[in-house]
Amino acid sequence: MTGSSVPPFAVISGAQVQQALAGRERQITELVEETYRLHGAGDSVNPPSYFLRFPDRPSDRIIALPASIGGKVRVDGLKWISSFPDNVAAGIPRASAVLILNDHATGYPFACLESSIISATRTAALAASAADWLSQNRPRPARAGFVGVGLIARYIHTFLTGTGWTFDEIGVHDLSAEHAAGFRGYLEKAGPGRITVYEDAEQLIRSSDLVVFATIAGEPHVSDVSWFEHNPVVLHVSLRDLAPEVLLASTNLVDDVEHCMKANTSPHLAEQLTGSRDFLAGTLADVMAGRVTVPAGRPVVFSPFGLGVLDLAVGKYVYDEVTRSGDLHVIDDFFHELKRYGTLTA
Ligand SMILES: NC(=O)c1ccc[n+]([C@@H]2O[C@H](COP(=O)([O-])OP(=O)(O)OC[C@H]3O[C@@H](n4cnc5c(N)ncnc54)[C@H](O)[C@@H]3O)[C@@H](O)[C@H]2O)c1
Repeated sequence: MTGSSVPPFAVISGAQVQQALAGRERQITELVEETYRLHGAGDSVNPPSYFLRFPDRPSDRIIALPASIGGKVRVDGLKWISSFPDNVAAGIPRASAVLILNDHATGYPFACLESSIISATRTAALAASAADWLSQNRPRPARAGFVGVGLIARYIHTFLTGTGWTFDEIGVHDLSAEHAAGFRGYLEKAGPGRITVYEDAEQLIRSSDLVVFATIAGEPHVSDVSWFEHNPVVLHVSLRDLAPEVLLASTNLVDDVEHCMKANTSPHLAEQLTGSRDFLAGTLADVMAGRVTVPAGRPVVFSPFGLGVLDLAVGKYVYDEVTRSGDLHVIDDFFHELKRYGTLTA
């Protein structure tokens, strides 16, 4: 969008978002990787996320992720995403979100998109990309294990398989037997691979070469370093599952150092414990650029904080797809007070 006229304002529903993204795992993973590299190269503005918390509801939060992205995408915006974990027991998803896209030329918001799908998609795409990059110097994992199996775990599995991963065995562990059964049901329909539901995290981790954490744990619940002695690739998407001891015995990569060293993530706890960031090998961008090599003889843990620029890139992709399809739902006269001194006539 260019020029200095007021852009039309559109609303894009979750159904439209899903339709624009369905079956495009490879394409979206490439887009997310490209955007992430752009961020690594400095062609983005991605200030710290702002956490709105509530004294009377300590487990709930709403996070604002403002960002600006250069390159071909050239868009600014904000993701505003709620996490209300008790929603799940009530039968609705934990996370809900909108994404606002702002016009690069005028600053005007030009779209509001349902964004829980965009958020899950960009998270899963970067996780799938990390799985590839981090397993380059070791046998490609054929046994995957998922700890915490809600919506994010499902998206990560979809993106792994959609970008070419196949698994002989898939382990499932969740504190809720009902959630484990639900995920198992999804896996059975999704494709081949022997599925095992584990009662405890230890057996699952010991049986998996690729371990995905997608729980809602607020503090570490896995601290025994010996569970990782087979040197798995660990996608620590939920950020707070692993005790500092586990990180200190692993090669650690993050998506963005400053972002990750906040909000009591496991890397943040490890920094507090050791008083330094020496336990970090670098970022995934460093691995992609060949600046960091991941040794095979240690566990490798990727802890991605989640970057607003990735939401923007996927959101703009959806916007362009919906526009192309001719189904963009524009709200007429959304911006209405446009004459500097009003419209009174004498
Ligand atoms: N890093 C990122 O970029 C990023 C992006 C999106 C979501 N996330 C995180 O991913 C996580 C999962 O999100 P979701 O929408 O799938 O949540 P969800 O509530 O749908 O599912 C979480 C599951 O984890 C299970 N669980 C909770 N504690 C557990 C434990 N200690 N051991 C095993 N299972 C446990 C729950 O029973 C539930 O089934 C959240 O923590 C969310 O913040 C991270």
